[in-house]
Amino acid sequence: MTEFISKIRTIQWIDNYSRMVDQTLFPYEFKYVDIKTGQEMFDAIKNMIVRGAPAIGIAGAHGVVLFAQELIDLPHDEFIKKLIEKADYMATSRPTAVNLMWAVEKQKDVIKNSKSDVKGIIEELKQNAIKLENEDININKKIGDFGAEIVPKGATILTHCNAGALATVGYGTALGVVRSAFAKDNTIQVFADETRPRQQGARITTLELTMDGIPTTLITDGMCSYFMKKGMIDMVVVGADRIAANGDTANKIGTYTVAIAAKYHNIPFYIAAPLSTIDTSIKTGEEIPIEERSHDEVTHINGKSICAEGVNIINPGFDVTPHELITGIITEVGILKPDFKTSIANAAKMY
Ligand code: MRU
Repeated sequence: MTEFISKIRTIQWIDNYSRMVDQTLFPYEFKYVDIKTGQEMFDAIKNMIVRGAPAIGIAGAHGVVLFAQELIDLPHDEFIKKLIEKADYMATSRPTAVNLMWAVEKQKDVIKNSKSDVKGIIEELKQNAIKLENEDININKKIGDFGAEIVPKGATILTHCNAGALATVGYGTALGVVRSAFAKDNTIQVFADETRPRQQGARITTLELTMDGIPTTLITDGMCSYFMKKGMIDMVVVGADRIAANGDTANKIGTYTVAIAAKYHNIPFYIAAPLSTIDTSIKTGEEIPIEERSHDEVTHINGKSICAEGVNIINPGFDVTPHELITGIITEVGILKPDFKTSIANAAKMY
């Protein structure tokens, strides 16, 4: 097991393939898997071997390079046409996190603007993917620094799902804030929601934080309001999969419930996300596509059924927290405050 999760790279381009941590195995095993074809990358994203909005963005960028390598023998114009089709296909591997579409678009810009031959375009796509990878870590450190400034001394921070090093290339967004705050004040601590159905909070967040020596308490999803009422939570910081132009934010299912509970108890509720998670092409959260995932995720835990056979199941992977419940959005250019329509529009100009 890696000694400090904050030091790992969740996903990395190596020579002519992509290496990533297999997140389906947590917390039992820590294993890297090498992804060598475009279709393997599509499946790795869909099956959540790699997960978390910024990480799947980078995975999508790698996927476009992998498809490009497979098309190397085609004549230039046919290569471009086929590769754009493959890139569009890669962008459909998961629907909610806009970072995936954003990163694929960045690769499509390279394809469309390049004056090079096929080999040259492949090299430019590789370099662009590596650039996006490196930028991700720097962006997260900036988010961490801005966020650390608003964490009260000795605070208990509640988080939901995993918006950590393992949801990004490294360091994390919401957990980046935790890491930067802990570096300044080692009396802070975290309450981590379990995050059913896939338990990213229990399986991944607790692993990340305990490996880094940050005091962490695991609670089940229904417990947050109990601890808020007792005065045991000082602030909430979560990640995001897509933020609409008005600040409405999609994140892991259950986030909305936490936000309502935080509002009721007067506890600040922050989103931590890079600007690439903001989708100014949509006005409100109503337009965010919500992924519907396999029913087994609800009916089974560790391969064992936990319910009556034949019961009806619905399994949306994400929900949308309305902007009125959000205190601020911590980004790499600072903390965006309400009115979000204005602060998001201004931040988008810097991008
Ligand atoms: O389904 P997942 O595990 O990809 O969902 C992850 C989340 O909802 C995260 O909170 C979000 O992607 C932000 S990651 C920095």
